[in-house]
Amino acid sequence: MSKLETLVAGTTATLERIARDFTPAVFASSLAAEDMVLTDLILKNRLPIVIFSLETGRLHKETLAMLDKVKEHYGYDIALFRPEPQAVDQYVAQNGLNAFYDSVEMRRECCRIRKVEPLGRALAGNKAWITGQRRAQSNTRSSLAVHEDDPAHLMDKFNPLADWDEAHVWEYLRANAVPVNALHEQGFPSIGCEPCTRAIEPGEDVRAGRWWWENPESKECGLHVVDGKLIRIKSVAA
Ligand code: ADX
Ligand code: SF4
Repeated sequence: MSKLETLVAGTTATLERIARDFTPAVFASSLAAEDMVLTDLILKNRLPIVIFSLETGRLHKETLAMLDKVKEHYGYDIALFRPEPQAVDQYVAQNGLNAFYDSVEMRRECCRIRKVEPLGRALAGNKAWITGQRRAQSNTRSSLAVHEDDPAHLMDKFNPLADWDEAHVWEYLRANAVPVNALHEQGFPSIGCEPCTRAIEPGEDVRAGRWWWENPESKECGLHVVDGKLIRIKSVAA
C-alpha cells in the first residue's frame, strides 16, 4: 500500500466509525483543500454526516463559488450557517467594518460574531463534529489528535486528517479529480475570510497569510479554542 492509500484507509475508517457510533455527526467545511478531501470521502461513501459551512459574510467569491461546484459535482447542498444580522450591524456601527485590524480583541470579537456563535448553532444537537485540521498546519496544531473531547460544545471532535501532510492532500485531490477552490493556485494554501487572508510567498509558512498582522500564537479564530486556550486537552484515542 502507498502512503496515500494507507492515509485514505485510516481516514475512511475514522469517518465510518463516526457515522456508526457518533450519529448525528456534522462536518465543518471551510471549502478549502483539506475540507474537500473529507467532503469527497463522506459523499462518495454515502456516509450519513451533514456537511456545513460558516458563511461569515466576508468570504472570497472563489470560496462561495465552491458551493455551486460541490452541488454540480456531487449533487449535494452544503448547509450554511450565517451570523446574527443584529450582532454584525452593532459591531460595524460601533467599531467600523474592518475593526479587526485594530487589535487582537477586536479581531476575536468579529470572529466570535461571524464564526463562533454560528458554529454553536451548527453543532447543537449533534454527538460529534469533524474538522479538516492537520498537525503540520502550524505549531498551534502540532499535538492535534484524531479524536478529542470538545468541552466547549460538550461533544466529541474528530480531526481525521491530523496525520496528513499537504502533499498527500494534493495527491488525493488530483487523483480523484476533486473540485478545488480557485484561490489555491493564486498562492493561498490556507483560506479564511477575504480581508483576513493574503497570498503567501514561496517558503513562507502555510498559515502566514492568515491574520498576517498578528503574532503566530494568536492566529486561531475561536472555532478551535476554549477560554482563550487551544483545545488540545485530551486525546481520547489515536
Ligand atoms: S481556522 O483558523 O479558520 O479555524 P482553518 O482555516 O485552518 O482554521 O480551518 C480549520 C478547520 O476549521 C477547517 O478544516 C474546518 O473544519 C473548520 N473551519 C474553518 N473555517 C470554517 C468555515 N468558514 N466554515 C466551516 N468550517 C470552518
Ligand atoms: Fe471577522 Fe476576519 Fe474573523 Fe472573518 S476572519 S470573522 S472577517 S476577523
